Amino acid sequence: MGADRSPALHAQGDPRAARKGCRGDPGRLDDRFATARLNGLNLSPRELRAFRRVKFLGCGSAFYVGQIGAQLVEDLARMPADAEAASEFRYRNPLIEPDTLYVVVSQSGETADTAFAVAEITRKGGTVVGVVNAVGSTIAREVQGGIYIHAGPEIAVASTKALTNMAMAVAMLALHLGRLRDLSVADGQRILKALKRIPDQIQQILEADESIKLVAKSLAQASNAFYIGRVRQYPVAREGAQKLKEISYVHAEAYPTSELKHGPLALIDDQLLTVAIVPDDDLTERNIAAVQQVQARGGRVVVITHPNVDLQGMDVERIDVPKSEPELDPILLIIPTQLLAYHAALTLGHDIDKPRNLAKSVTVE
Ligand code: BG6
Repeated sequence: MGADRSPALHAQGDPRAARKGCRGDPGRLDDRFATARLNGLNLSPRELRAFRRVKFLGCGSAFYVGQIGAQLVEDLARMPADAEAASEFRYRNPLIEPDTLYVVVSQSGETADTAFAVAEITRKGGTVVGVVNAVGSTIAREVQGGIYIHAGPEIAVASTKALTNMAMAVAMLALHLGRLRDLSVADGQRILKALKRIPDQIQQILEADESIKLVAKSLAQASNAFYIGRVRQYPVAREGAQKLKEISYVHAEAYPTSELKHGPLALIDDQLLTVAIVPDDDLTERNIAAVQQVQARGGRVVVITHPNVDLQGMDVERIDVPKSEPELDPILLIIPTQLLAYHAALTLGHDIDKPRNLAKSVTVE
């Protein structure tokens, strides 16, 4: 691990990195036109308007960022969008459509499955851009344009602060596409303002690190964990489960909250801990009902939520995260899931600098 031993920075989003992610030359957040300036895409407004859909590709955490990005593109640009694991895409002789914008997401820029997806899209004449951290990496060189996320070297072996910046970058892309279409100036400004607040909000989460540490002790004692989140928060749940597996070696699975009743509820007992993502939005009541279903089966619950959500006196462990705009909430809700995995790993005595199965770049199949 590098020189910065601060546990908080070691483990997750870094406000300094997030600030840099919004910078570019002359600055990516464009107040005048309520949009994001993304010159590196190398695509003119006319070319960008000609795309009818967007497809994100990545592996692991970068795939989950792609899922966040797809939802953002649908929300802000009202274009159909989806995300797929690059590791699957490469093996299924994918149809490459000329009116689809392909966006590959990779911290290292060296993940072989993602690089192969780039080659396949390029070979079949598609347009592919990258959301990449490592400047000059294989993927950065092979895409037709893109957004460097400027997170600085990702010191944690598992992508952490880079994930935050990748999520901010896909939000800027969605904003940019939205403002080329029907997103209003007012909505553009609403998203811009929220993006600018994110670094300070990350700082606030880091300041609550002690309480997250306490919750992580429960997680470290669990033999199994479920992470549940609905719609925009499903990728948050996936990232939470992924990090717990990768760093703490606690068995964890993520489910869309609505899928719980279609099978996984059968496994709930007092040995299984559920981490529920319950934002303050139009689905809060439904999410609380799901938490009650888990509790009714004797399951213990950690709720990652917003300060004004009333958990109706439920006996749960609670982590509050500052509220953003609904479209951007996942970016902040992810951070405590990474901190939980980090502290659970430390509690269990694992060397977080040498995770069992992770190399800095995955250049093998
Ligand atoms: C996987 C790692 O192999 O690669 C994940 O286990 C990581 O943690 C993923 O998110 C993608 O890496 P990158 O560098 O392409 O973002």
